[in-house]
Order: sequence, then C-alpha cells, then structure tokens
Amino acid sequence: MKKRDFIKTSVTLAGSALLPSSIFAIPKGVKRLRTAHIGVGGMGAADLDSIASHNAVDVVALCDVDQNNLNAAHKLYPSAKTFIDYRNLLNKMKYEIDAVIVSTPDHSHAPASLMAMELDKPVYCQKPLTHYVSEARAMRKLAEKKNLITQMGIQVHSFYDYKLATLLIQSGIIGKVKKVHAWSPKNWGYDGPIPKGVDSVPQELDWNLWLGTSLERPFKEKVYHPFNWRKLVDYGCGTLGDMGVHIFDTPYNALALDVPKTIINKCRKPNGFGYPEHNKVTYTFPGTKYTSETLTWIWSDGPGVPSSSKDLKLPNNDKLPLQGAMFIGEKGRLLLPHFMELPKHIIDGKYQDIDVTKYDPNGLLGNTKNDYERDAPKHYHQFVDACLGNSEVSAPFSYSARLTETILLGVIAGRFPNKTLHWDSEKAVFKEAEANKFLSGEYRKF
Ligand SMILES: NC(=O)c1ccc[n+]([C@@H]2O[C@H](COP(=O)([O-])OP(=O)(O)OC[C@H]3O[C@@H](n4cnc5c(N)ncnc54)[C@H](O)[C@@H]3O)[C@@H](O)[C@H]2O)c1
Repeated sequence: MKKRDFIKTSVTLAGSALLPSSIFAIPKGVKRLRTAHIGVGGMGAADLDSIASHNAVDVVALCDVDQNNLNAAHKLYPSAKTFIDYRNLLNKMKYEIDAVIVSTPDHSHAPASLMAMELDKPVYCQKPLTHYVSEARAMRKLAEKKNLITQMGIQVHSFYDYKLATLLIQSGIIGKVKKVHAWSPKNWGYDGPIPKGVDSVPQELDWNLWLGTSLERPFKEKVYHPFNWRKLVDYGCGTLGDMGVHIFDTPYNALALDVPKTIINKCRKPNGFGYPEHNKVTYTFPGTKYTSETLTWIWSDGPGVPSSSKDLKLPNNDKLPLQGAMFIGEKGRLLLPHFMELPKHIIDGKYQDIDVTKYDPNGLLGNTKNDYERDAPKHYHQFVDACLGNSEVSAPFSYSARLTETILLGVIAGRFPNKTLHWDSEKAVFKEAEANKFLSGEYRKF
C-alpha cells in the first residue's frame, strides 16, 4: 500500500472524513497543551515523563501495543484514555488532543506521525525521524505544508555542550574544518542467521499492531520486541541510525552541511535480516563556509571502535571518550564527547583553555557552565512552549528530516559494501540505480 493511501484509510478508519485544518489548530492564547503519547515503554516512558514535567501539559491519551507498558504508564496518568492502536487514538481523540509524541520503534515513526500531522497535530517524534528516506521527505513536506510545530527527539541538541561546540566551530576556533570522525562502540547490528521457528506471542503484546506497516514475520522472543528490533533491517536503522543521528547532529548543524555527494560503507555483505555489526562509513560533502572545499565525515561503529588513528590521538595519551566526534580543522582539533562532557580544544598535541566569554560575549548560550539536570527536559519543553506560541523548536522536521536522510543514505550504503554511491538530492535518486529500491518500502495493510 502507498503511504498516501495508508494515511487516508487510517484517518477515515473511524468513519470520519478529512476535516479542514482550522478545526484542529491550537487556538491562539490557549495556555495548556493536551498530549497523546504513542509508545510509552522504553524511551517512550522517558519522553512521557519529560513532556509531562512541563507545568502546562495535560497527558490525555496513551497508546502502546504492549499492555504491560500501557498499564505502567496509565498508573502514572490515570485520567488519560488508553489505546493499543494509534489509529483509534487519533481518530477518536482528534478533538481532545493538541499534540502527539511518537516513541515507537523506527518503522512506525512515519506512519503514526504522518497520520497525526494529517490531522494538524504538532508532533514530537523520536530519532531517527524515519525508517526510509522517502518517509523523511514526506514528513518534512507535510509539516511544511501545514506549518506545524515539530521536533525530533535528539534531546542533546538542546544541551549546553552541543550548542557551545557549534558556536566554537562557527566562530572559527579551529579554522575551516576538513574532516570529522565520529564513533560509537555500540553494537546495534546482528551478523547471525535468521532465527528459525516461531514462539508464541506473549499475551500482553499485539504482534500485528507492533509490525504495523512493516513486513509480516513470525514472532520470536528476544529478537524483535522490545529493543532488539533496532538491529534488524525491516524495523530499525542499525548503530548508524541509532547513534549516528545524535553524534553527527552537531557536525551537521555546526558545519551547515546539507546533502552528501558520495557515501561508502565498509562492512560485511548484507544478509537481508540484521545490520552489519561493524560499519565504517565515509561521506563526502560539498564545502560550506565553515569547511574546506570538501568535507569528509568518517563514521565507525561496533565493538572495539575506533581503531587508533593520528587524528584521534589525545594529549597526555588520554583515553578517547567512549563515543564522540572529532573535528579536524586547519588550525587544530575540537573533541566533542557524547555526551555530558564539554568540548576540548587541541592544538599541536596540547589542550587549550576555552574562554567562552570570548565567543559568547552576550551570554546567548544562557549559562557559563553545563548543568545536565537542568538541560535534560529542555528539548521537550521547547516543543511544548512552541506549541503554545511561546518559543521556537531547535530540531524541527525541516532540519531533522535532512539529517535523518543523510544518516539513512549511509545505512543504505551498507547494502553495497565497499561501493561508492553517488546521491542526487534534487531527483532523490542514487546514480547507482540498484540502490534506489532501498529508499522506500511498501506499507503492509494491518
Ligand atoms: N533520544 C534518545 O536518546 C533515544 C534513546 C533510546 C531510544 N530512542 C528512540 O526511541 C524509540 C523507541 O526505542 P526504545 O528503545 O524505547 O524501543 P522499545 O522497543 O524498548 O520500546 C518501544 C515501545 O513502543 C511500543 N510500541 C511498539 N510499536 C508500537 C505501536 N505501533 N504503537 C504503540 N506503541 C508501540 C512498545 O510496546 C514499547 O513500549 C526509537 O525510535 C529509538 O530510536 C531514543
């Protein structure tokens, strides 16, 4: 089924036709936001907590395909209505909700968010924004067309350290940047065989709804739900999709990158089921005002990474942070650990003091030191405040769909190990035609 047909059928599921946007828009002057949460276990529970910690939020609807997770959230918000199918929630409560938070596995992000946006609801959606490039484009287009407040769940985007690193890079602390390394030793890949057989579906889980628009598969314990779906090509986006979207966010933002020219992923051969457990992805981008003529971005993931490299050697033989990014510029290097650590400036093998007041004389970053407890709900509250007309979001879909698209191109490159792919963003195709079929996927009827 095509995306458009899915949304049309879903929105009319409960017998109502598409209605004009003015019926749903949050009226000016409204002081409280009624939120609906789709996916309330795992990260969804944290999202629920952070959104609800805003004192102008009323949690009015909760949805989860796992009854245990739904019950746990309902205990905390007993006045909220509960659902197991987000289509029912959105259709039945469209007049009683103002904004939707989507915290499901990646393959359900776009189907749920597009439906919510079609009903003119602002959406906070977890990262990576979508499972397919075509969905990222559709999300961006719809949000733009309907002029909706949107935010992707890259909460560290609103943390002090990341904003400081962006300011330092854009102020030219290391001159024009030629290369960025980013790494994560996490292993959200799976090199093993496709599991055989079938396990009985736990009583609390609606497996058909969990699969949603994705391919039908027999249920297997500990393979899909919860959490492990991120290792599998039909539902998640591997380590690059999961962590790259956080760690590449600051370089992408700070260097004003847009569309990569080429992408190559050095990994094992695809097996049609799990993502490779090790990926080394090299992107090249056309230069921007913050970079040399070409910017090279090198991502490595999997246990043991990154391997030693001159670019990553730290003063005093210090250990590299477990995950992070290193900017290599004409005049030095900037290390940005992921996360909860300040950036470090290095010239000629020595750490340099960073006088923040020199770069931020008017205190626009808001603080002179990091405070993680204070920063934690910021990204969420920004979304709530923006919905109420009192703030702006920092990772709207106009930005985060482009970031997600870039990340997903590297994920697709993993289907063609060691082959350089060339991306034509205007036409939304690869020069290598065989890669284009991975840009989108059919939606299953469920
Ligand atoms: N921003 C971050 O730091 C961060 C951290 C972890 C996860 N995430 C993102 O959050 C999302 C969820 O990841 P997770 O680790 O919590 O996964 P999970 O599998 O642990 O939890 C997903 C939850 O969604 C529910 N669910 C699944 N399909 C659903 C559907 N169609 N409708 C309603 N509920 C559904 C599941 O039952 C479960 O409660 C992913 O997109 C992931 O990338 C973000």
